[in-house]
Amino acid sequence: MEFLECLFCQKKYPLDLFDSFCPDCREPMLYPSPPKKRRFYPGKNYPLERFLDFLPLSKLDASLNLGEGNTPLVKLNRLIERTSLPNVFAKNETFNPTYSFKDRGSAVAFQKAVAMGLERIGTVSTGNMASSTAAYGAKAGLKTFVLLKEDTSLEKTLSVGIHNPELIRVKGDYGELFTKSFSIGRKYNIYFMNSVDPFRVEGYKATGFEIFFQLNHRAPQFIFVPLSSGGHLMGLMRAFLDLKKEGFIQQVPIFVGVQAQGCAPLAKAFASGKSKFERIKKAETIAHAISNPDPAGGNISLRMIKENNGMILDVSDEEIIEAQKMLAELEGIFCQPASATTLAGLLKFSKNVKFKTRVNIVLVITGSGLKALKSIESSRINVHQASLSDLENTIGSILK
Ligand SMILES: Cc1ncc(COP(=O)(O)O)c(C=O)c1O
Ligand SMILES: [Zn+2]
Repeated sequence: MEFLECLFCQKKYPLDLFDSFCPDCREPMLYPSPPKKRRFYPGKNYPLERFLDFLPLSKLDASLNLGEGNTPLVKLNRLIERTSLPNVFAKNETFNPTYSFKDRGSAVAFQKAVAMGLERIGTVSTGNMASSTAAYGAKAGLKTFVLLKEDTSLEKTLSVGIHNPELIRVKGDYGELFTKSFSIGRKYNIYFMNSVDPFRVEGYKATGFEIFFQLNHRAPQFIFVPLSSGGHLMGLMRAFLDLKKEGFIQQVPIFVGVQAQGCAPLAKAFASGKSKFERIKKAETIAHAISNPDPAGGNISLRMIKENNGMILDVSDEEIIEAQKMLAELEGIFCQPASATTLAGLLKFSKNVKFKTRVNIVLVITGSGLKALKSIESSRINVHQASLSDLENTIGSILK
């Protein structure tokens, strides 16, 4: 029998895909590491195969693979020159099949669902997780339910709906919907793989392992990650905790979770030394993908960050827009505002810290800017006007 464990009360409970929260603490439970010695299989090309010993899967069904992972780790040379920061890299997760890191989690959660013989899956999301779940649901041929907020934009609805899941717009409180999805899931046998699902979290470990291999078997000193529900940060951190446990590294990187000032319940709790966060009443930020006033994995994230000397920062919308622009203009990387918080956070952090020159810093670029075009005001883009007859002169004057 498989178990999940609660970091808060240290108890283990039998795996229940329809409710993976601790019956006592109501915090999300995680998949425990096995006691056996684990190794990598570097010759394999499919990331899940390479990292199989570290994942909660005993075998893989290759037919579910959409090509997730193997994303580039790119050195940000022009940004480094401009800012005199040390070695900064972008782990560019926009290269995943549905253009965000969510595919890493979906890949593992779908493997588990299919291995356990489930035929119906679902998620509660308005953005990246919805399209990822819908795409993997299509590939696996499962009946897929996506519960959307009532006011989800047409642009987002289309990119999910194109995979033809059962799309339901739900009126009412979004936080309550998250909780309710689990009881509905149990009734109708629908596995709701939401943001802190234990198998999603294990899937995010693959990104951490890739960073380790891409840096020639070394951990970076710092990793900056956008922080919302906390699922992604937990998974990345667990990858490096596993690497340390197995003797591959001596030290876990310093994780810096970054929130948007308009919705920063965890940054607030961290700054005031609290171990539990308070729900935010009104969230308002350009970084919609991380605008979660009541993050399900918030308390665990706070705990893991504290236990591993990490920190949580917040950045303003202006800082986010500036960072998005810098990544696009200096480095050719077009990311969502949510992902640009990583660079905004690093720029803010570096005002108070003197980095050693050999330090490696990784920014995890979680999702593509093409999915949040509405956040870009057209006034930000510089367009020259010319008619065919004066085009030559216009280009000539630009070059002057
Ligand atoms: C682009 C992007 N970045 C970061 C996050 C935050 O991830 P998590 O909710 O696991 O903290 C999300 C979550 O939806 C996202 O869509
Ligand atoms: Zn508990």
